[in-house]
Amino acid sequence: MRVLRDQGPIIRLAHRGASGQAPENTHAAFAKALQLGVDGIELDCQLSADGELVVIHDEILDRTTSGLGPVCAKTWAELAKLDAGAWRGPEFRGERIPRLLDVLAQIDGRATLNVEIKSARDVGSIEPKLAALPEIRAAADWLLFSSFNADAVRNLRAAAPWASIGILWDRRPAAGAFLLAEELGARCVIPSRRVVDGELVTTAHDRGLGVWVWTVNTREDLERITAVGADAIFSDYPERFAPSGR
Ligand code: G3P
Ligand code: MG
Repeated sequence: MRVLRDQGPIIRLAHRGASGQAPENTHAAFAKALQLGVDGIELDCQLSADGELVVIHDEILDRTTSGLGPVCAKTWAELAKLDAGAWRGPEFRGERIPRLLDVLAQIDGRATLNVEIKSARDVGSIEPKLAALPEIRAAADWLLFSSFNADAVRNLRAAAPWASIGILWDRRPAAGAFLLAEELGARCVIPSRRVVDGELVTTAHDRGLGVWVWTVNTREDLERITAVGADAIFSDYPERFAPSGR
């Protein structure tokens, strides 16, 4: 997997797009992230009732859309009618839940894209779909897949030997992350900022793994995470950490 690296001290990824400035996981948030010149973008992916790959974080629609209830209970035609921007402000009214393939077309290799498999309900069905779509295979060079669910990344590896995988981790010790990374030939570990320290970074680097840390929104956290040698950060506010001169 190639990372389009800016000149900054650390790889910057926009968490759910530039979600500090635009409604998370929408085309507006991804467009803003590209405009900010980030190195990468993270999004959360789920399946609709009829098997469409859709981009939304929560398993229920209530917080970020005009809909109610589980994402997985609605067809794509139903999801496509919902507003996914008005909750963040009237200027975002009309934003829709994106389809993953539409986001791929939007980004078009201009940033690394981290696709997080979000819902345990999708495990077993979303991985073969991700692996089989020609548009995804064609974009493999700039895609990184991740999940907190070990079965999801195991299934993805089985279906897509070509896929770059990141191991999401949110607890100590991190030994389980390294075991899983080795099993799957992962590209990086993706620890929470709460669990990353120098020992974790050294262990990862000794094993040839990158360390990509979420979610880093303050200068204080950035300095600590840079000091321990992490390679990348996910931020809702990537503009706060722009390389000088941008
Ligand atoms: O990939 C990092 C981060 O996105 C994981 O947490 O809940 O924001 O998807 P969450
Ligand atoms: Mg996520």
